[in-house]
Amino acid sequence: MNTTPQNPELNKKRALSCIQPTGIPTLGNYLGAMRNWVAMQDEMDCAFAVADLHAITIRQNADQFRRQIYEMFALLLAVGLDPEKSLLFIQSQVPAHAEMTWLLACHTQFGELTRMTQFKDKSAKHNDNINLGLFAYPSLMAADILLYQPNYVPVGADQKQHVELTRNIAERFNNLYGNVFVVPEPYIMKNAARVRSLQDPTKKMSKSDENQNAFISLKDSPDVIMRKFKRAVTDSEACVKYAEGKDGINNLMEIYAAVTDKKLDDIEAEFEGKGYGVFKAVVAEAVIETLRPIQQKFDDLMKDKSYLKQLMKEGSIRAQAVSHRTLNNALKKMGFVLV
Ligand code: TRP
Repeated sequence: MNTTPQNPELNKKRALSCIQPTGIPTLGNYLGAMRNWVAMQDEMDCAFAVADLHAITIRQNADQFRRQIYEMFALLLAVGLDPEKSLLFIQSQVPAHAEMTWLLACHTQFGELTRMTQFKDKSAKHNDNINLGLFAYPSLMAADILLYQPNYVPVGADQKQHVELTRNIAERFNNLYGNVFVVPEPYIMKNAARVRSLQDPTKKMSKSDENQNAFISLKDSPDVIMRKFKRAVTDSEACVKYAEGKDGINNLMEIYAAVTDKKLDDIEAEFEGKGYGVFKAVVAEAVIETLRPIQQKFDDLMKDKSYLKQLMKEGSIRAQAVSHRTLNNALKKMGFVLV
């Protein structure tokens, strides 16, 4: 029996995702996630948040952290998320997230949290600071999600396990107290490009790579972008062809396809008989032109903090209204006394 409560006010499906304000995203984050969020805005009722509370599971420097929160919010706007279409907000500005986390933490099992691969990885990496927050991270993520009753949670493969746990928590809660939460599904995006490291194309492009040449940051200048592509690792064949064993070229072709909408076959034809030097420069140019308007808008927004703050405020008010309804319903069903 499907006992999932439906979203009464809407016939559009709802989607929610969040991004941590820990450093500027890469071209991979843009082509693999953020760009698809922009497209989703027209199909679904979307909410996107900056997950600043998640970021403090690792130590942050206060001044840098504050800047990163502004930057991530500005970047969401700069890539094309539109506060008229989507709910955009900062997690910490909506107190229900922290409150709901406690309710859900009491319905999340120690064993479940111990099995989370991200917890295992992060606690190995930061083994001088394995705090309760790092362990309880998935309960906070479940709160982010369940408060907004989304049908879909667009995430990358690395977050799928957390969404599965969210589903288990939601089902457990609904079974105990009646229908409180929509049980959401992870949403793996169709057009998501899987962008790989420019230095080791067997690995995913990552902003935390120690090798700066391995990734394109959305803030990289045209010169830097050109240089990084010119240094990209390829092979010794000098043939622009999508094939097994040509991870470097495959990656560059996929990036080029993603930013130009060209097909891989057409790209092969376009560069037939041309060397890698020419190809790399064309890919770099296409990426530079894709990022140019985003960077321009980002720079403009970062000059106007009061405007950013005003949009944050408007988002937080709307998010508070939605999240409060779910929180109060959960509290009431559990037997808390509401006044
Ligand atoms: N944990 C996610 C990440 O690191 C970010 C996140 C926090 C999130 N809350 C979320 C993603 C809710 C989707 C839904 O990428």
